[in-house]
Amino acid sequence: MLVSPSLLSADFANLSADLEMINTSEADWLHLDVMDGVFVPNISFGFPVMKYVQELCDKPLDVHLMIVEPQKFVTQVRDTGAMLMNVHYEACTHLNRVIQQIHDAGMQAGVTLNPATPVDMLQDIVADVDLVLLMSVNPGFGGQRFIPNTLNKVRRLRDLISETGSHALIEVDGGVNADTGATLAEAGADVLVAGNYVFHAADPHAAIATLKRL
Ligand code: DX5
Ligand code: ZN
Repeated sequence: MLVSPSLLSADFANLSADLEMINTSEADWLHLDVMDGVFVPNISFGFPVMKYVQELCDKPLDVHLMIVEPQKFVTQVRDTGAMLMNVHYEACTHLNRVIQQIHDAGMQAGVTLNPATPVDMLQDIVADVDLVLLMSVNPGFGGQRFIPNTLNKVRRLRDLISETGSHALIEVDGGVNADTGATLAEAGADVLVAGNYVFHAADPHAAIATLKRL
């Protein structure tokens, strides 16, 4: 399993210590949640913080934009050193164009679905993306409860990926812990995002290692 801890649950008064924990852990990526207070009912952090994270973090950055009009920020996201730029299906009128712009900027492209958006909406784009991020909570906050229907969506997406010859990875975000992570692994997830489960653990390295072994 690939593991992408979400920085949203880190200690922002001492980010360098949490980034050192990530650097010395088995985490594959670091997940960065950008919120604008419009697409989701919360605001998190933006480019100045991401630039600082890039300087201190050795892991590839997995950027999850919970913002309207993400196409306006492709170059700025690239300039923060992002490996992967995730945009929400629900935020993009011209999703095919946005995916092209992300690729043209030299990043991998991910498309994210809210819990109520059917996986079948990706029929005509899944072959063009590198990753699909399924939200297993309504986006905007860490520490929410996992929505069990996500397991059906992972299975349906796994079928859609093979039917379309897509190489996309399946990433899941929200309410992930050792128990929900095990069910997601069985359903066919490739990447798990975890905020609270990692950063609020007594031993964050061990929490990451537990997810890694699923
Ligand atoms: C929620 C964010 C998540 C969040 C997950 O909108 O997209 O990445 O940090 O937090 P947990 O793992 O605590 O549910
Ligand atoms: Zn996220």
